[in-house]
Amino acid sequence: MKRLGVNIDHIATLRNARGENHPSILKAAILAMKYGASSITIHLREDRRHIKDIDLKDLKKNKKIPINLEMAATNEMLKIALKIKPNFVCIVPEKRKEITTEGGLKFNKKNKKLFHIIKKLNKSKIRTSLFINPNINDIKNSSFIGSKCIELHTGIISNKIKKKINFQKELKKIKKCSKFAKSLGLEVHAGHGMDFKTAQILCKINEIKEFNIGHFIIGESIFDGFKNTINRFIKIIK
Ligand code: PXP
Repeated sequence: MKRLGVNIDHIATLRNARGENHPSILKAAILAMKYGASSITIHLREDRRHIKDIDLKDLKKNKKIPINLEMAATNEMLKIALKIKPNFVCIVPEKRKEITTEGGLKFNKKNKKLFHIIKKLNKSKIRTSLFINPNINDIKNSSFIGSKCIELHTGIISNKIKKKINFQKELKKIKKCSKFAKSLGLEVHAGHGMDFKTAQILCKINEIKEFNIGHFIIGESIFDGFKNTINRFIKIIK
């Protein structure tokens, strides 16, 4: 059974536009879970442009919400994760000026910082994941560094599908990487830029166990509602 993680960063973006507490992050998380999400993803960025520290604390108080915290590989974020203890952590690259996470992590297996962070999180029983581009070398390095999962960046295939460009080569790459990662004992997740069409295509890859989807869910909810949008994704991926 595949799982849907709902990324609610952009509910925070909307809330922050007025500096008050509407729409509420906690309410969104509770409803997303009620509508069938398996977890709630939030990205606590260094610049706190959407999710704030208080959001993580508030969500954590509700024991029924499995939290997937996306964070950069920094000492500050490690400290927060070890203190608050989200259920899952996904390490992502972060650039101040980017609009969204533009690609996967660039690292090699001698990356001491990443090794240290993953070790600490694993020891704390927080499920670890690395957000990487679909390539074999990064999968080997993720396994070497001790991550339990990988999340494959689906930005390229999502763009191709949206622009109606041939996406078969990218799809082949994602399939090959998913199989290879599973053979190394890594759990495979995928996300970024996904919509209904991308989900229909990628859900055929058996090895992918979890999709993390944000922007399209929040945007589509304006037209069709949060419940219907999540329900449609769940129907597709299951
Ligand atoms: N997965 C990861 C690791 C991400 O960084 C993001 C974007 O924050 C997503 C999934 C969701 O991407 P989108 O908002 O484009 O659906």
